[in-house]
Amino acid sequence: MILNENGSIDKLIINTEKSEVYNIDCLEGLKNLPDNCVDIVVTSPPYWGQRGDDGIGLEINPKDYVNNLTAIFLDVMRVLKEDGVFWLNIGDAYNTPINWNFDDHIYSSLGKDKNGLDPNNSAYTKKRGNRRACIEKESGWLQYGNLLALPWRIILNLCDKGYFYRGEVIWAKRKAMPEGCCRRPHRKHEMIYIITKSEKHNFTTKPPIPSVWDLKADPFIKEKGNHTSTFPLDLPLTCIESSGIDEGIVLDPFMGTGTTALAAMMKGLNFIGFELDNENFKTCQNRIRKFKTEKAQMLF
Ligand SMILES: C[S@@+](CC[C@H](N)C(=O)[O-])C[C@H]1O[C@@H](n2cnc3c(N)ncnc32)[C@H](O)[C@@H]1O
Repeated sequence: MILNENGSIDKLIINTEKSEVYNIDCLEGLKNLPDNCVDIVVTSPPYWGQRGDDGIGLEINPKDYVNNLTAIFLDVMRVLKEDGVFWLNIGDAYNTPINWNFDDHIYSSLGKDKNGLDPNNSAYTKKRGNRRACIEKESGWLQYGNLLALPWRIILNLCDKGYFYRGEVIWAKRKAMPEGCCRRPHRKHEMIYIITKSEKHNFTTKPPIPSVWDLKADPFIKEKGNHTSTFPLDLPLTCIESSGIDEGIVLDPFMGTGTTALAAMMKGLNFIGFELDNENFKTCQNRIRKFKTEKAQMLF
């Protein structure tokens, strides 16, 4: 990376032969990658309005969230090889304010005694965004309480540009997500969507890949510090195994604490990643360093 006299990036040189995570905005990073250079993408962007830090997910209007992620994923598709596979783990959102704080115990039917979770549960303590419902009279879908179908809007945008929506996987969770008392099912799953450039992409066919995954709990959960929106190591591992590719580069434009990088190393693949948040970037670097020195694949 070459910095100019103001300390900002003048020229970023990415050597795709070298596994590396860069502490920059992914849109900036992607611009510096050539077309058709990565084999697999596994990523989980911030969900709309869930977080309080910088970056994607803070948009007041969900239309901006959809547009921003579409722009990033169009560039992801540009750098993906013709036979590559893009695995996208992304959650939807209701058009409601975020109401997760400790006082929600009053309404909650969750937890052992059915009156709320432990006060230290990350659902209450993690840094949240100040999301408000975004109502627009002229946009029928922006009504209060509507499930916004944000992943589908992004996927349809990619399909409109000619990319292939190839299926989805349900990541079945052991416990329902804490959602308080609400007139809707308590979600006990997350989705992983598969997008490709061609119908003839790589994929594991023997044995066939199931559409519901019961992923192993994360063996490295304690290393992830305060970052609570991570996926378990088994998620990128299973995505890599299911891609039917055993060499090449795995890209994660929202690298967080580096889970995808660890999975790539365990599978003998190279990785490239981008992460905006300094603390998450440091955690990521430490985990990669630790993995390299301790050969952590023995632990899993
Ligand atoms: C859901 S987390 C990813 C967690 C990751 N899968 C893991 O297991 O650690 C999303 C990450 O994207 C980062 N982020 C948000 N906007 C970004 C952007 N424009 N460019 C790069 N990273 C960004 C956030 O800081 C956060 O760490």
